[in-house]
Amino acid sequence: AMAAERGLTMATCTAPVNIAVIKYWGKRDTDLILPINSSLSVTLHQDQLKTTTTAAASRDFTEDRLWLNGKEADVGHPRVQACLREVRRLARKRRGGGEDTATLSLSYKIHIASENNFPTAAGLASSAAGYACLVSALARLYGLEEELSEVARRGSGSACRSMFGGFVQWQRGERPDGTDSLALQVAPETHWPELRVLVLVVSGEKKPVGSTAGMQTSVETSPLLKHRAEAVVPERLAQMMRHIQERDFEGFGQLAMRDSNQFHATCLDTFPPIFYLTDLSRQIIALAHRYNAHHGHTKVAYTFDAGPNAVIFALADTVAEFVEVVRR
Ligand code: DP6
Repeated sequence: AMAAERGLTMATCTAPVNIAVIKYWGKRDTDLILPINSSLSVTLHQDQLKTTTTAAASRDFTEDRLWLNGKEADVGHPRVQACLREVRRLARKRRGGGEDTATLSLSYKIHIASENNFPTAAGLASSAAGYACLVSALARLYGLEEELSEVARRGSGSACRSMFGGFVQWQRGERPDGTDSLALQVAPETHWPELRVLVLVVSGEKKPVGSTAGMQTSVETSPLLKHRAEAVVPERLAQMMRHIQERDFEGFGQLAMRDSNQFHATCLDTFPPIFYLTDLSRQIIALAHRYNAHHGHTKVAYTFDAGPNAVIFALADTVAEFVEVVRR
């Protein structure tokens, strides 16, 4: 109430990290962030990894400002601006042009503060949680209630998938304006309660080649990526949805590993090549295969994004034993 008297309105949201099991890599439109293939991810629980963002608006603010993990950042970044513009456009549309005095003025400047509880830019999909959270906080600030994965996509492609929990598909869409390139929930988080995710932090350092630049070079130079998008992903996506529906861990895990490996193969096929995996990453891959061979079936599955850190999928009953094996 005191904040309202001072003409300050605030909204805080949190957003989760998501890990793709069918990877997004490559854009057909770099401005609208439209992908060359659909992708599918698992949204992680927010107890361990999350972004928290507060957006505040006041008539006393003289400029828009942004802080990331306590340090002021460039609010003029084109992707931040795209999200701001889109949310404000939707809010204006909703109000039907007339400025309602009961709702927050769209002309007020805003201050945004965002914090991750995990290392940024280390391949832990922080931009996904970050932009999903930014869009959610802005939407709450302006009282928007619609589904906004299309807006989150303008911040970072993978961010559209962090707008939902559980298992999420980002459908590539066909339209040039991107209105059909959005996220859809395939199954809710309650669908597969035994599924666990381990993050093995190989390095907390910033990656040398960001995903935005890396995937663009891949689109321009990798024939394997073109083949993957056209001939491999559509079938894999349908297969992965079936494995999830049936809670078939073996099918799910094997396909996740294959897709991660193919993504990193397209990185190697990029010219000049991009290396995200390190020797330690590859040791983890070998360990997972040895562990599965020892048990005679797929009990753990790895996946790696644009960085060296391993994400391991396993069922609850396998976690303690596999963690012990990793420690040794
Ligand atoms: C390897 O969503 O970070 O994690 O759209 O340029 O922001 P931009 O890229 P980003 O790329 C993520 C790539 C990936 C695979 C995935 O999450 O699907």
